Order: sequence, then C-alpha cells, then structure tokens
Amino acid sequence: MPQIPVTRTATDRPPVPDVLVIGGGIIGLATAWRAAQRGLSVTVADPRPGRGAARVAAGMLAAVTELHYGEQTLLGLNLESARRYPGFAAELEEASGRDIGYRACGTLAVALDADDRAHLRELHALHLRSGLESQWLSGRECRRLEPMLAPGVRGGLRVDGDHQVDPRRLAGALVTACERAGVAFHLGWAERLSVAGGRATGAVLDNGTAVDAGQVVLAGGSLSGRLGGVPEDVLPPVRPVKGQVLRLTVPPSHAPFLSRTVRAVVRGSQVYLVPRESGELVIGATSEELGWDTTVTAGGVYELLRDAHELVPGITELPLTETRAGLRPCSPDNAPLLGPTALPGLLLATGHHRNGVLLAPVTGDVLATALSTGVLPEEARPFTPRRFSPLSQEQPV
Ligand code: GLY
Repeated sequence: MPQIPVTRTATDRPPVPDVLVIGGGIIGLATAWRAAQRGLSVTVADPRPGRGAARVAAGMLAAVTELHYGEQTLLGLNLESARRYPGFAAELEEASGRDIGYRACGTLAVALDADDRAHLRELHALHLRSGLESQWLSGRECRRLEPMLAPGVRGGLRVDGDHQVDPRRLAGALVTACERAGVAFHLGWAERLSVAGGRATGAVLDNGTAVDAGQVVLAGGSLSGRLGGVPEDVLPPVRPVKGQVLRLTVPPSHAPFLSRTVRAVVRGSQVYLVPRESGELVIGATSEELGWDTTVTAGGVYELLRDAHELVPGITELPLTETRAGLRPCSPDNAPLLGPTALPGLLLATGHHRNGVLLAPVTGDVLATALSTGVLPEEARPFTPRRFSPLSQEQPV
C-alpha cells in the first residue's frame, strides 16, 4: 500500500517542555517530580534513570554523625532535608505505590581506641555547641544497645535523629512517581548544552536527538562538569570521588544482627554498617580520588571488611552478596550547587558529595520553586552556584 506523505506543520511538533533535567539519578528525579507537581512539563534525559550512584549508596541520612568542622552552613541544609524526610517519604510512597525503606532507626558512632575516643569526644562537644541531639555512651552502654559490637569498643555517640532510606527503592519510586506525574524520559545521555541568544535552550543527546526546553537543570552527578557547550565560568567545579561499598545478607537465623546504623573512624577511614529490615547489611565506604575509575579492588574490599570486622566481628559469618563502586560528585567546599547560574535558563542541582540521598527532599523542593517562580528559596541561597563565579556574584539570585 502506498504511504501517504505526512506534511508536518509547526503545530504538529511536540510541544517544548518547560524543563529538561539532565540526569535521572535521585537528585534529578526528585527535581523532576517536584517540578511536575507544580504544573511544569518536564523531560528527563538519562540512559538508565534511577541507576548510577543510587545503586551503590548506602542511604544513611547522617546530618549529625557526618558533621565536620567548618561545615555548619551545610549542616543547616542537611538538617532541613532530614526534617522533611518523613513527609517526603510518605508522599512519595503514596504517589508511587512503592515502599522506599525509610527507617527511623538512629545511629551509633563508636570508638575503638583512645585516639578514636578523643576524636569522638570532640565531635560530641561540637554537636552540643551546635544544639544537636547526641548522647555520650560508655563502651558497655554501646554493647547493651548493640550486642554484636566488639568487646573492645571504648565508647560512642548515640544519635537518634540520623536515619536511613534504601536508595535503590527510593530511585525506583521516584521513577514511578515521575511517570505518574507526566514526566517524559529520553533514554540517552546529554552530550551538549544548547545555547541560543545568550540562554540555555535544551541539549543534544548522544543519539543526535535535540531536546528543546524552556529551562535546563544540570543534575548529572559526578558527570556534571563534563557537559559540552557550557560556558567555562558556569561549568560546575564537580569532581568524582570513588566509594566502594559491600552488601552482605543477614540470614533470619542471625537476626536481629544490628538494630541501627553503626559507624566509626578506623585508622583514619570512615566505615559504616547500615542494616536494612530486608536483611541486607550495607558496609561502606572507601573515599578515593582516582578520577573516573569504578573498579572494585581487592584492597578496597579487604579494608572495608577488616575495619567492619573490628567493629562487629560477627560479620565474617554472613554471605557477601555484592561489591560495587560509585562516584560521589564533590565540589570544592563539599556542599551542593543549587539553583540558577550566570547563564539564563540553566540551573544546577549537583555537587552533593556524601549527602545526595539526604539532600533529595530539599533539593527537589528548592529547584521546583526556582523553576516555577524564578526565586531561589532562602535556605538554598548559601549554595548558589554563583559562589564559584566571582564575576557574576553581583547578579540577583
Ligand atoms: N554518605 C556516605 C558516603 O558518602 O560514603
């Protein structure tokens, strides 16, 4: 049968979405979902939405136990996002029909020797000065709380406000919630930002598709600094920091194994054990500046198991079910870049470093506000990308 030629007119073209989100990880998806809820038409470009770093992350919501000196401003944003988590989780579970594994379990940070103990005492003092809830426990009190802890534990901090979520479930639920909210997906990676008349107008994907949009959000995680076509002074200064993570399984015969997240600094390296209700036990994480390498190494696995074993000797009996490495998107001050850039039409939601899962609720909210009103909410202003472009700091946010 002869084909009837179709004549396309301007009105036949697919409508230009209000927003293109580059990157379908937890941050990009939270942004897309919240923007769609505000009535914006949204498209996400990502070859595998919901995969990437979300497959690796342990999902600790550790605003208090991961507090560092000099990061009080970031603490404020972390606490604000932790405060929003219960509502965010309930709303997302309702919207997606999926459980995201949010668990208000608390965290115990312990010390194994005199140096660790002194360090943890200092952290406790910082917590108290910052008005945070954090309770000092003796070694015996720690073991009463978590009987699987090593007899050598010298003391610890009980932080009942640092919880956990399952990042894989969270990402899956966000994909479903986005689809149900009308978000469209392009299964390709954005190679090049399109710029016309001095503003961002969309992106060209690796399959050659040009996606136009009213505004563009760059939420590409550690890859955010590699998007072509972005002016030099606007390109986010984000670098990859590798983290290797292990997954073990606690058989029902060994449950309850741990009832809360347990963490420590062992020989200068962070180690944490995150127990899920499903029986999964996540052990993380290395922190390595090795560029784009995501190899799981014998040394990385050895160090994690060695340090975790010092904390909780019983882990050696558990099946090791998965090893994986991912890349954290790290900025020069360890804080995220949120909101409009000096290039009209281009916003950033990247650089979340160790806090991407924790910061998803507040990031989604503030980006959706910035996209729909043009105004970056107060709580996000210290994190404007313009703090890294001195020449453009005078412009209104
Ligand atoms: N927030 C834990 C990590 O990045 O390893």
